[in-house]
Amino acid sequence: MENPNYSYGFKSQNNECSDVKLKITGAIPGWLQGTLIRTAPSKFEVGRDKYKHWFDGLAMLHKFEIKDQEATYSCKFLESEVYKKALKKGRIAHGEFGTDPCRDLFQKVFSFFKGPTPTDNGCVNIIKYGEEVTSCTETPNPKIFDLDTLETRGNYRFEDKLRGQLTPVHPHMDNEGNIYSYLTEIAYKSFYHIYEAPADSKERRLIASIPTKEFAYIHSFGMTENYVVFLENPLVATPLEFRFKDKPFIEKFKWKEDRGTIIHLVHKNSGEVSTIKTDAFFCFHHANAFEQDGEIVFDLITYEDASIVSFLYLDELRANNPSLAAGQLWRYTISTFDNTIEKKLLTELPVELPRTNYESINTKPYQYVYAAANLEPGNFLDALAKIDVNTGAETIWQEEGCYPGEPVFVPRPSGASEDDGVILSVVLNARKGTSFLLILNAQNLQELARTEVPQHITFGFHGQFFALNS
Ligand code: CO
Repeated sequence: MENPNYSYGFKSQNNECSDVKLKITGAIPGWLQGTLIRTAPSKFEVGRDKYKHWFDGLAMLHKFEIKDQEATYSCKFLESEVYKKALKKGRIAHGEFGTDPCRDLFQKVFSFFKGPTPTDNGCVNIIKYGEEVTSCTETPNPKIFDLDTLETRGNYRFEDKLRGQLTPVHPHMDNEGNIYSYLTEIAYKSFYHIYEAPADSKERRLIASIPTKEFAYIHSFGMTENYVVFLENPLVATPLEFRFKDKPFIEKFKWKEDRGTIIHLVHKNSGEVSTIKTDAFFCFHHANAFEQDGEIVFDLITYEDASIVSFLYLDELRANNPSLAAGQLWRYTISTFDNTIEKKLLTELPVELPRTNYESINTKPYQYVYAAANLEPGNFLDALAKIDVNTGAETIWQEEGCYPGEPVFVPRPSGASEDDGVILSVVLNARKGTSFLLILNAQNLQELARTEVPQHITFGFHGQFFALNS
């Protein structure tokens, strides 16, 4: 049977709405109280201009509020400077990941991270800094918004001297609420500045600065108790290419197979960096990392090369052709004694957008990864999977014509085991042209409830659940 057209998930959604009461099938667990906030590229055209890449679309915030076994839905565009300028001018007015609207030499300065401001189109992830909730993309320009009204308020700013033009949307956090991340500073000599942002301060502590002539496109990193596991994809560019190449942001990077993938193990206290080269692969997402018996273990989703980035251009995605939508979940183990590397495939399933019971297992040995999966080749992300990383056992949720997004794990308060909780995933029902929030029992991926949204929600990447009174 022909697949229903999942390209609906890449069709602009311009309709904002507020506190729409949702029809529920099944029963939402009584303990599940709080707010799921997701961001997603939702507007792919401005006037006659069209964005080219999935990562480019103007961000819309999506909120599911769950209380007393009922649910409401609200959505609102993130009022970034980029969004406001585009609407005012009636055209794309700022460069994004895969779109550069340069029309003349003057406008060329308004690219992804150059110009008066780097892009603030926070369409990739939601990050909480202190009490502020922000919507982010891969520039150090997170937008603060009000969790109740979804009103955009302004930028979150650290108060220190650390500088850089790129930063990941996947910082790590330890049990005390300290945040770990990095900035890529692009200059004649470029650096990756790896830092800790203490929970109670806007002043970051520099852990290490790693110099590089060519800087890599990097989307996330791993973290153990003592180390930041920082990988350079061999998808690199030089500062000169960035300044003078007349191409969108990501097209300035080149795949350099010979460079291999470079692994930096950065000690969080001493700042010492140990560097190991391995065979070339590309990675967007790490799943988890930990230390065990003198070894650093990290799990991540990899691709043989960076062609996944090209596949995610909107023309490709909307063509409904057989295509690559997911990678392979591998475990890398590095001996801290002699830097030898072992690797092991954890599942045959093609997966992406991995999540875990982060608060409980981050930096520790663990058992489960939840991810979106691609079961039928070329049918985009058509299932949810729970992978037991110790045994390889797989549990699947799948429904014909349905395309689920990132599975967000929410632990049951005082839960008894790592998988005691639920999975929340926004799913496109391509046959109906609408979306629903799916709530699964995380232990067996059996459906507990779904709440039907009266319109479609575009495919996005990441979101966070904020439990009530937490
Ligand atoms: Co991501």
